[in-house]
Amino acid sequence: MRGKRTFPASSPRIRSGVVTMWFRNRPNPSISRLADADRSTYISVMFDFAPAADADKTTLYDDLLSAADALTAGEADTVANMANISALIWQFLPDLNWAGFYRMVGGELVLGPFQGKTACIRIPLGKGVCGAAAASGDTQLVEDVHAFPGHIACDAASASEIVVPVIRDGKVVAVLDLDSPLPARFDEADRAGLETLIDRIGSRLT
Ligand code: SME
Repeated sequence: MRGKRTFPASSPRIRSGVVTMWFRNRPNPSISRLADADRSTYISVMFDFAPAADADKTTLYDDLLSAADALTAGEADTVANMANISALIWQFLPDLNWAGFYRMVGGELVLGPFQGKTACIRIPLGKGVCGAAAASGDTQLVEDVHAFPGHIACDAASASEIVVPVIRDGKVVAVLDLDSPLPARFDEADRAGLETLIDRIGSRLT
């Protein structure tokens, strides 16, 4: 269809991503008007992804991965990709109070794009759950953050947490951090889903 590009969803359970284009000097144009326009001047796009209602956890992660892949494909800006991945996770996964990234900058973790309340800006390597993931290179799945030595409580409401390292050329370059107000919110299915997500699109985040 001219004037509108549709990304086919790899899963029939999620709606396709729809890209709508607006053109300079053409406020609020209709798709049909765009058909004759010079598409090289488009300035805005809109994506529309949504999780399926009543989807089980495996399905949610499959659909999240499909959406994340479509959103980040061909985009080289890592901050933009981290921002959109954070937003997708926030939209797809229930019972979260924080979801986002810390980036390894100058030997410490520095706050990156996220969804949720404001958070600690810098975390030393080895400190807290994020620092433990960054230092070890291993996912940290914490059922009870109050029992984790050195847990950093950015939000007193947090009860459980999972942190997945983003590794490039053998080095941890960032971590993906999810917090929940529910105890033991994250399990092995979450670990598998998030590790697969980072494995598949991690190169677009660094
Ligand atoms: N709880 C984390 C700190 C980051 S916030 O949860 C956003 C930690 O212990 O490293």
